[in-house]
This record gives sequence, structure tokens and C-alpha cells, in this order.
Amino acid sequence: MSDRNERITLTIDGVEISGESGMTLIEAADAAGIYIPRLCHHPDLPPTGHCRVCTVTVNGGNGAACTRPVADGMVVENDTERLNTLRRNLIEMTFVEGNHYCPECEVSGDCELQAVAYRLGMTAPHYPALNPEREIDGSHPDVFIDRNRCILCGRCVRASALIDGKSIFGYKYRGIHKAVAVVVTDRLGETEIEATDKAVSVCPTQCLRVKRRGFRTPLGSRRFDREPIGIPERE
Ligand code: FES
Repeated sequence: MSDRNERITLTIDGVEISGESGMTLIEAADAAGIYIPRLCHHPDLPPTGHCRVCTVTVNGGNGAACTRPVADGMVVENDTERLNTLRRNLIEMTFVEGNHYCPECEVSGDCELQAVAYRLGMTAPHYPALNPEREIDGSHPDVFIDRNRCILCGRCVRASALIDGKSIFGYKYRGIHKAVAVVVTDRLGETEIEATDKAVSVCPTQCLRVKRRGFRTPLGSRRFDREPIGIPERE
């Protein structure tokens, strides 16, 4: 791991900020109060660069802000029309690739995918909906998995292995059929997952969620009903 002692200076959209060597761009931006849209990144997990929603332009070339280490003198573009259009396209494709029906979804207002879509000004997707048939697993008494909402960010896979120490999740199938797998048993009810596991709380769309909590917070009063997604993002 790199040293985090050396102070460096960079600019994001013309604003000079400082950071430390060893930080990623998204960490430096967060510390400076600058929001870079993201989906697969979570501050408590190592980055993987899966979703590319955090794509920024660094010294003229595109790169994922969640995996790119900062360097002294970097010139970064983030909140530009060109990048936000690319991000909106990615978000639209994510919507049509799964089954995301916000108006009737019980996690509306508490979903990072929906919140990033609002933040980027997405209205309706410009691509045909694929309407896939996805597996649902309600076999566990306290935790439910509805893969219709899954965006394959991999947060649950990383959190289960690296924080919970259980390695309950992986992937199965390929291409458009790729899905989060419950490894070994294939059924959530036969695993050691608990409602308090980090793997459950980090899911951005609550594809993996705790049972019997659906409408505890009424629609209109939820996290992103109160304020748009952005800084600070610390769950
Ligand atoms: S947040 Fe950086 S690639 Fe997903």
C-alpha cells in the first residue's frame, strides 16, 4: 500500500484541491466535498472499477475515478456535459438491463441507482427494456435477495468476503445472464448470512435487503427524498 504522507495538489473542474499520495481520485474529491457520481464504489470497500459511472477525464484521457490514484498536478474534468451524458447513458442501460420500476418499488427514495439517475437528470431510458426473468430467493428468515434490482456492482461480494469474513456471494452465468450467486449452497437460507452483515447494508439498490422493513420509513421521507445523492456519502 502506498504512503499517504506526501501532500499533492490537483484541480477538479478548475478548483484546486489537495490530497495525499495513495488516495484515489474519488477519495480526494470526497474529502474536498466534490461529488463524482458512482455506483459500484463504496468507501469501506476496495474499488473494482465495475460500473464506470465515475469516469472522469484526467489530463485529457478518460479513467475511473474510483481506481485512479491521485498525482501531483493532475487536471481532472468531472462535472461536464460530455461526461454527464456518458454517465446518463450508462445509467439508462443499467435500468433497461434489469427490472427497475421506481414508481412501484418499495425501496424508492432509498436506492442509489434511482438517486444517481435523478442527479444526472435522467428522464426515461432511450433503449428498449430487456425485461429479464431473474431469480428471487426468500429462503432466509431475515434476508431477501431480489436479483431484478441487481446491478452487478459487486459490493456484496466484496463486503461478505472482506468484512463479514463469510464469502457468501460470487457470480454465476455469463454475459447478459450474469448474476450474483449464493456460492456453495445456492440458497440464502442455507448460509450464515445475518441481517446485520455488511454485505446486506452496502447494496446500492437493496436487491439484497432485510425483511419486514419495507415501508418502515414512508415514501417521501427516505434518504434521497430528503436530499439528492452526493457529499457526504458515508453509510
Ligand atoms: S464507481 Fe468507479 S467504476 Fe463504479
